[in-house]
Amino acid sequence: MEFNRQKFIAAIGAFSPETPHNLHIFETVASTNGTLWQLLEENAPPKTVVIATQQTAGRGQWGRHWQSAPGGLYLSLALSPNVPTQLATGLTLSSAWGIATALRDKGIPVWLKWPNDLVLSGRKLGGILTETRVHQGKIVKAVVGVGINWANSVPETGIDLRSLLEKNPVSPITSLEILAAVTFIGIISGYEYWQQQGIENLLPAYENLLTNMGQKVTVDGRSGVVVGICANGDLRVQICQKGVATPVEISVEPGTISLGYR
Ligand code: BTN
Repeated sequence: MEFNRQKFIAAIGAFSPETPHNLHIFETVASTNGTLWQLLEENAPPKTVVIATQQTAGRGQWGRHWQSAPGGLYLSLALSPNVPTQLATGLTLSSAWGIATALRDKGIPVWLKWPNDLVLSGRKLGGILTETRVHQGKIVKAVVGVGINWANSVPETGIDLRSLLEKNPVSPITSLEILAAVTFIGIISGYEYWQQQGIENLLPAYENLLTNMGQKVTVDGRSGVVVGICANGDLRVQICQKGVATPVEISVEPGTISLGYR
């Protein structure tokens, strides 16, 4: 599947005043995140974008492999947030929220699964992998990498957007290039919202789209209920203890428990 540069730029222009400053489109790379890091080492500016039609070694969260057959969206965007390292998760949360919100604006009811999954009809539509470089305790460079299932084959818990829209054409997203444009705009708008409004305003907006709110979970053998997200991106879980009137709240780091697909 080809990716048409002009169609992508025109779609961005149709939806937003944003423009990608430096756009690199490849047929095949190992990982768009990896390629973007190489370009950043050669002094590529912030907001550089790398898009590939397929990846041979796509990187997923927790060191997993991200299947990247032709037909999917594989996009990475460079940012330079200059915030303390403790705020790193804000990048992932704001990107996930920004992309979900941009897709919802285009008629696709996307939800979030903590911390970084885009969910449609209860299945995984896509994911986000944020990588950072730190200098003197601050995130000086970041790469936000997004994979979204468009027309690629997907695992059992996944869903691809194109076949859903073929059955129910509710959206102006009719090509991979338009999906890429909406995704790009979504990352930038989520990032700007986080930078301007802070994590305290981003969190309630993120929680509004979170499918895990109220979900029953087990943490270290104790039963609890998801009640929200902490400012550092941890999951807030209320533990219910027999015979204890006031429930105890604990925080759970990303990657510690799996919330699965319900
Ligand atoms: C996840 O595990 O849910 C996150 C997957 C992120 C995959 C994307 S595809 C584009 C970018 N390049 C990579 O190597 N990974 C991210």
